[in-house]
Parts: sequence; structure tokens; C-alpha cells
Amino acid sequence: MQHARWPVIHLLGAGSLGLVIAAGIHRVAPLHLIRRPGHWPAVLDLELVGDDSALTCRLPQSGADQLSEPVTHLILCTKSYDALAALDALGQRLDPGAKLLLMQNGMGSQARVLQRFPQARISAATTTEGAYRTAPHRVVHAARGITRIGALNQSDFDWVSLFRQAGYQTEPVDDIRWHLADKLRVNALINPLTAIHRCLNGELLDRPALRQALEQLGAEADTLLEAEGFRFPTTAARQAAAVARSTARNRSSMLQDVTAGRRIEAADITGYLLDIAQRRGLPAPCHQALYARLRQLDSARKPDQTGSG
Ligand code: PAF
Repeated sequence: MQHARWPVIHLLGAGSLGLVIAAGIHRVAPLHLIRRPGHWPAVLDLELVGDDSALTCRLPQSGADQLSEPVTHLILCTKSYDALAALDALGQRLDPGAKLLLMQNGMGSQARVLQRFPQARISAATTTEGAYRTAPHRVVHAARGITRIGALNQSDFDWVSLFRQAGYQTEPVDDIRWHLADKLRVNALINPLTAIHRCLNGELLDRPALRQALEQLGAEADTLLEAEGFRFPTTAARQAAAVARSTARNRSSMLQDVTAGRRIEAADITGYLLDIAQRRGLPAPCHQALYARLRQLDSARKPDQTGSG
């Protein structure tokens, strides 16, 4: 193992994507998984299933309360609604000048983290890597994608080289907020519709009523994001349709959350668009109706099931 160059990297948020990232980074850097407070075996024996192979890796782990060293370099892979609380729970173990990489969907959690941790060096990432879990210790790395990383403040850590060494196709970007917004508009169209109608991504294109809903949601998202200063080369509907086509057999992350009884990650996706609408006095009736349906789905959920551990 080639660990000389990198400091200890902590990773918080052991969901399917977090574990895929952890497994890659573990090959090139000393990596430690931070779990919810509790008693964890010292090592997670993870089975990672790829296209034509399965490998087992042993990832060191502990609850935050058992960490023996300060957290100076942290990849945060929690759901967006857990991000701030997960960092707060680290308390004084989080070095004030820590280098953080935020990998949350949507927009909103990043601004909350920036505000709460002004001395931290903060970057954010968007990724199209796809993963799902088939058992607590078994993750399928379903799609190879691109990870884009950019600084949100005066970040000075080379996350891009670390990710590349770990085997992930990674691009540095100057305006990560634009990339977050670009991903958000796709998620705001595909995820709620697939979660509510319990369908695969590709069915959004095949079923006329859903295709029409996609177009209407897209037109609203275009107006809202443009009012916020974002410019994109394609419309949201066209972009979402292209993604739905290329991921036609996938179950979106929101559909997976609904099916597993987990909390839905809507506040920083649809909720972010509705905040723009409210601030700027713009109508967004389709996103509003969708948000109401998502909140109904969320309140029907059993209260003990939350995000990743
Ligand atoms: O959240 C997801 O599931 C994915 O970001 C996407 C692009 C919608 C594909 O399933």
C-alpha cells in the first residue's frame, strides 16, 4: 500500500456511495470510517462488487466518540439533512482548520456548513458514480462516473489527486456551485417523480403523463435557476431526459430511500427551488405540489429510519 503521501483521511457517512469512495481511498491513503456513536467492530469487512469482480476490503472504523486522533481531513458523505449534525457531533475532535470535502446532493447544506465552520477549508464534489447496497457489508459499484471537485472557500488540499490515485475519474472545477446547481436541476426532476410514481428512471420518458410532468417541472426550474444567476447550455427538461435515458434501468436514490423507509432528501433539492421562488416572488406550482406529495411520503415513514450509519 502506498500511504506515504497522504494524511489520515476520515470519512463520515457509510452509505453505499460513501463506502465505494472509502474502498478506493483505502487503497492509497490511511482511511478511517467514522460511524454513529456506538460499539462497532474495529474493522468493517466490506464486499465491493464491480462489473466483473468482487473484492473484500477491511476498513478501519469506530464511533466518533472513540476517535483517538483529531480529524484534519474529512470526506462527508452523509445525506444532506444529516450533514451539519454529523459535523457538530464531532465536537472538538474536528480540527478548526480541517479540510472538508462535502459530497451532499442538492444545495443548502454546503452553505450551512460554510457558515458554521468558518475556519475550515471547504471543498464540494458532485459525482455520477453509482452504487447500491445489497446487504450491510455488500455494496455494488453499479456505474462508473465522473467526480467534479471545486473549492467553496480558500481550500488548499489536493482532493483531486487523491481521488484520481484512488481510481476515480475526477476533474477539478472552478465553479463548483454551478455544477451543484446543474446536478440539482436533474435531481429535482427525476428523483421526486420516480419516488412518487415508484418507477425506473427510463419510465419518465415512456409514460406520457410523466414526460409532461418532467417538461413542466423543467420549465419552472429553468426560470428559478436563471433568476438566481445560473446559465446552462440546455434546458433542465432536456438535461434530465438525457440522464433518464442513460440511466433508464436505474432506481433513483430517492426511490431507493422511499422503498427502504428512509427519510427523503427533498429539502435541499425541491426545497431549494421553492426557496428561490419565495424569495423572488416567482410561481412554482408544479414543484410545490410535488414537495407536498414528498412530505406526505416522508410523514408516512416509520420515524426510526434515518440516513446512512
Ligand atoms: O439521485 C440519483 O439517483 C441520480 O443522481 C440520478 C442522476 C437521478 C440517476 O438515478
